[in-house]
Formats: sequence, structure tokens, C-alpha cells
Amino acid sequence: MTSEQQDQLSLYARDLATLLGREREKAAALERSAAQLQLYAEDLQRAYAAQQRYSAELEASYLDTMMRLVQASAFRDHETGAHIRRLSLYSAVVAEALGLPPEQTRMIEQAAPLHDVGKIGIPDAVLLKQGKLDPDERRLMESHAEIGARLLEGSASPLMQMAARIAWSHHERWDGTGYPRSLAGEDIPLEGRIVMLGDQYDALRSPRPYKPGFSHERTLEILLQGDGRTLPEHFDPRLLEALRAIQDRFRAIYDDCREAGDA
Ligand SMILES: [Fe+2]
Ligand SMILES: [Fe+2]
Repeated sequence: MTSEQQDQLSLYARDLATLLGREREKAAALERSAAQLQLYAEDLQRAYAAQQRYSAELEASYLDTMMRLVQASAFRDHETGAHIRRLSLYSAVVAEALGLPPEQTRMIEQAAPLHDVGKIGIPDAVLLKQGKLDPDERRLMESHAEIGARLLEGSASPLMQMAARIAWSHHERWDGTGYPRSLAGEDIPLEGRIVMLGDQYDALRSPRPYKPGFSHERTLEILLQGDGRTLPEHFDPRLLEALRAIQDRFRAIYDDCREAGDA
């Protein structure tokens, strides 16, 4: 090997060493950034978990408040706890049968008990009257839908917002003959249509001072074919279709969830 070649080789070796050194520095820098990122990810994870915990706590306290409101209205009304429980269950099975996402189904189930919370604002003379209501008393009684909505509206909680929609819309009818807004068809919030069907089924099955509790079969016949007072046109046809398919679950909910005074 000539000395020229030797010089050349040692130049190469030096270059290679420099290159290697640089690569090592780069690798070390990358490792440092990776460690930094790892720390950052862990921080984010911790913050996310705390946020989840906070949301769950917040939701639990909304639910707690809602159940206390239900209790407050139950003090004045003779709606039983069993009716409230059944209404939640009917609403959930219909929502499920319609294929609604589980989260929405759960919210409907939790918000349904507040449908009549506006009865808090109805005078005892009307709320507890045994006989037939005169037109003025009827109007007053019907105002429970808007009173309930006013009570629940404006909350940041999606659950409370849903409860407000159910409160004002659970007496609307598909054919536009309901109250308070006489809305028809899909202008009525879906959750209101769902709760209305369960409420009607339950009212027909339950004995009242002026009527006996009807059997499941008779109740279904009234809802699907009408009896002159309750008409199939009052209900979203999709919901009646769902009811036909899951009627055994409605029957089981009524039969399994009774208390003293129920049929
Ligand atoms: Fe109501
Ligand atoms: Fe009800």
C-alpha cells in the first residue's frame, strides 16, 4: 500500500468515526424525546382518567338530583314508585328494539321517571280531584307538561336536557291531537313518543277509581286497534310495530314490577 493510499484510508476512518459519533448523538436525542413523549402520554392518561372520574361523579350527582325531584313530586301525586320503575323499563326495551345506541337507551331509561315532575306545580284541588275535571281544571292539569319542561330546561347535562324534552312531549300524539304543542309525527321528540307509549300501556293496565285494570291482551288490542278514546293514530307506527314484536317484555315488566294498590 502506498503512503497516499494509507492517508486516504485514515481519512475515511476519521470520517466514519465522525459520522458514527453524530449518529450516536442523534440516537441519544431520539431516546430523550421518546422518554419525554412517554412522560407526556402518561400525564395525558392521568388527566383523562381524572376527567372520566369527574364526569362519572357529575353524572351520578345529576341522577341523584333527578331521583330526588321524582320523590318530591311523588309526595303529592299518587303515581306509584312501581309505575315510575315500569315506565323506565318499557322505555328502555322500546329504545333497544328501535336499535338506538346503548348510551341513548340508558339516558331515556334514566330520564323517563321525570316525565310528570311538573305535577309539583298543580294545585291539590285539581291534582287529587277524584271526579271528572272541568275544562279549566283540565287545562291546569295539562300544564304539568310545560311546568316540568321549565323546571328541567337549561341544564348543561344532556340527561337533564332529555328529561326536559320528555316532560313537555310525553302527551303529544303522532296525529297532532296531543298537548301542549299539538305537534305531529317526527316533530315530536323520539324520546317523548317512546315514553308516551309506555305511559299509555301502563295506564290501561292499571286499575283506576273509574276503571278496572285491563289485561295485557285487551291493552294491546286497545293500543293497536283503538277503543274510540285511545287510537293507534296517536302513536308512531314504528313504535307500535316494535311493541308488537316485544309485547311479551311489556307483559313481564308489568307483572314483575307491582306494589300494593297495583292490579
Ligand atoms: Fe303526564
Ligand atoms: Fe306516568
